Amino acid sequence: MSDKETFKKELNERTAEIEKLIETYLPEETGHQKTILEAMNYSIRAGGKRLRPMLMQEMCRLFTGCLLESVIPFMAAVEMIHTSSLVHDDLPCMDDDMMRRGKASTWAEFGEDIGVLAGDALMMYAFETASCAFETSVDPDELSRIGKAIGILARKTGVYGMIGGQTVDVELAGGPIPADKLDFIYHLKTGALIEASMLIGAVLGGAADEDCKIVESLASKIGMAFQIQDDILDVTGSEEIIGKPVNSDEKNKKTTYVTLEGLEKAKQDVEKISAEAIEELNKLPGNNDFLEQLIHLLIHRQK
Ligand code: IPE
Ligand code: IPE
Ligand code: MG
Ligand code: MG
Ligand code: MG
Repeated sequence: MSDKETFKKELNERTAEIEKLIETYLPEETGHQKTILEAMNYSIRAGGKRLRPMLMQEMCRLFTGCLLESVIPFMAAVEMIHTSSLVHDDLPCMDDDMMRRGKASTWAEFGEDIGVLAGDALMMYAFETASCAFETSVDPDELSRIGKAIGILARKTGVYGMIGGQTVDVELAGGPIPADKLDFIYHLKTGALIEASMLIGAVLGGAADEDCKIVESLASKIGMAFQIQDDILDVTGSEEIIGKPVNSDEKNKKTTYVTLEGLEKAKQDVEKISAEAIEELNKLPGNNDFLEQLIHLLIHRQK
């Protein structure tokens, strides 16, 4: 098997393991509020690359050589938050998209009212899930790291993170956006949750403060490259492969990295920014070849 095939096989195995872990935290679909539980599970089970839990897990591996028990609830939690952001992002009042992860968007399947509530519910359930990490240890230092990780997850999700970025994204839709503002939007709407994922993996893995700073900075670069590639795929991708509508940005008259800089420059910048992220990754004390290969894969991803 070539190196690339070995990596792909490993990637598929790890994604399947993450799916299983997430599944153990999903709520049972019973009770009078059954509909919302179904909608939550529907959106999570629809699939997705599971990139954020994977990055979290690999960061923990880089610093500890293993996957700590305390990281697992956070892996499920960050995927719930990410999924909640997609459920809301697709709503008619936001990007108005009817397909996600190869299926009908949550609102298209369950109605707009349940779509709003399912996004809210997933976001709160994420914190309920993350708090399960407190049951994985009695060590005061580890418990304090778990508390810190919950704070990171909240801040990077909220007004200083993903939600702040989505706010400026929807507010400025329809008109021109200068490069510095687009940078702000991307760092928050997409970068922040990737930063949270990698930073939480590092913090729970006991990384030193100066290494956490490097992790946050390299994660922000991965997030930037990831969103630019998402913009590229909105123009060049195929609906069957990306599992969501193409030309959604044009439909919503969004200024994107592609409309601002052109397709070729956008592609070059995904490579350049990813290379900078890998350079920073190599400054860290541990080593993780899988993670480096994963960042490479993201540069040319088709979905
Ligand atoms: C899509 O994220 C939204 C962005 C932040 C660009 P992903 O491309 O990670 O979506 P899934 O999880 O694989 O469906
Ligand atoms: C959304 O960016 C990022 C989120 C925080 C959900 P997009 O609106 O470009 O994401 P897609 O293309 O719908 O997945
Ligand atoms: Mg959007
Ligand atoms: Mg969208
Ligand atoms: Mg997009």
